[in-house]
Amino acid sequence: MEAFIVEGGYRLEGSLRVDSAKNAVLPLMAASVLTPEEVTLTDVPDIADRHSMAEILSILGAKVTPTGRGLTISSGGLHNWEMPDRLSKRIRSSIFLLGPILSRFRRATVTYPGGCEIGLRPIDLHLNGLRCLGVSIHEEGGLIHCDGTRMHAGEIHFDYPSVGATENVMMAAALLPGETVIHNAAREPEIVDLQQMMNRMGAKVRGAGGQTICVEGVKALHGVTWKPMPDRIVAGTLLAAAAITGGEIELTDAPVSDMVAVNAKLREMGCVLHEEPHRLTLTAPRRLTAFAQLQTQPHPGFPTDMQVQMLALLCASEGTGVVVENVFENRFTHAGDLNRMGAHILCSGRTAVVRGVETLYGARVTARDLRGGAALVLAGLRAQGVTQVDRADLIDRGYDHLEKQLCALGGKVTRIEA
Ligand code: EPZ
Repeated sequence: MEAFIVEGGYRLEGSLRVDSAKNAVLPLMAASVLTPEEVTLTDVPDIADRHSMAEILSILGAKVTPTGRGLTISSGGLHNWEMPDRLSKRIRSSIFLLGPILSRFRRATVTYPGGCEIGLRPIDLHLNGLRCLGVSIHEEGGLIHCDGTRMHAGEIHFDYPSVGATENVMMAAALLPGETVIHNAAREPEIVDLQQMMNRMGAKVRGAGGQTICVEGVKALHGVTWKPMPDRIVAGTLLAAAAITGGEIELTDAPVSDMVAVNAKLREMGCVLHEEPHRLTLTAPRRLTAFAQLQTQPHPGFPTDMQVQMLALLCASEGTGVVVENVFENRFTHAGDLNRMGAHILCSGRTAVVRGVETLYGARVTARDLRGGAALVLAGLRAQGVTQVDRADLIDRGYDHLEKQLCALGGKVTRIEA
């Protein structure tokens, strides 16, 4: 197992380009199944989830070829609609292959992707959405058998604006004659990116980014070359790294317009940010000021994927702040390790109260999910002494060699075999 060794006390300075977004790349890779023609995604980060998704697609019969910093998917040879159990459990995003595979084969079998550290991760909204499109679903022994032979356009109302379920239904409806309407759709920017690529492939999707998405079915989709949108969560994580070290950094190719909530919270903590359409700079004070409260919400609210990084910033800030996690039921799993580094975090259910301390201390800690692992690295950047963050593999799921990115900004982070 690999670990990160983080030497604290180095101010981050410099400039970095933001990679394409994991949470855009994964649904875009799934959407490649909607056409037998080649889909090329340029500039895809070297992250574990990309490779897992590529492996699943290959097992289904698609051909996935790395092309420079990107990849090309040819799913003309797709012959299998049964998602491999061991892989579909490894990444949750395999569930949104369901829609495209049903669209292509009118049949699909998938295992429950299973929960993870941050919550149970049910898929009821995905399955109900597909049922509204005429898919009959039979669950047996952890397997989900879908029969789409009588699929039709339909009207869906999501009880909760689920990102994955919205993406799944968008893709499932793309080739269904008639108009499908999705009410209370998720509004995340990655869904807009998916709509734009699908339309470039010949689909007729409109409304992404809003609460109602309409999909007019077409006969077929064709290939496309597409650059996925930049990663607003990696960008936010790098800004947080500069903020916790009292640093000053520039990010280029950044999705600035998708970072309003995060940038506002960093300003509330005393950071000075200058924004341009695809570039921004952050200058942090020596010590941050605690924000009064942070509530995670579906987009455009504060993103849950940036919650634990902000919790880490609070730990070393002046004052006391409250964090409420409204999206996932168990996303404070890293509070214990942060407290072992000298933080004062009190958790109760979905609420954490943090009294900031002047000094954090290096310790040996363990990542439990990719965002929490990144937050432990951030705390290590601030801490006195050396911090070892075990399970670097979990961080690698969504960060392309985080240690190299932080070192490029003057941090001292190395990867070891623990
Ligand atoms: C996507 O997950 C992201 N993953 C997550 O990023 C992100 O945290 C999440 O959206 C929220 O923004 C990808 O895009 C690959 P949801 P997803 O369906 O689609 C409940 C990261 O760190 N729910 O919007 O799974 C669910 O339990 C990851 O990059 C149901 O109850 O998120 C959760 O409480 C973590 N039933 C809430 O909705 C369902 O059928 C939000 O889930 C589906 C979801």
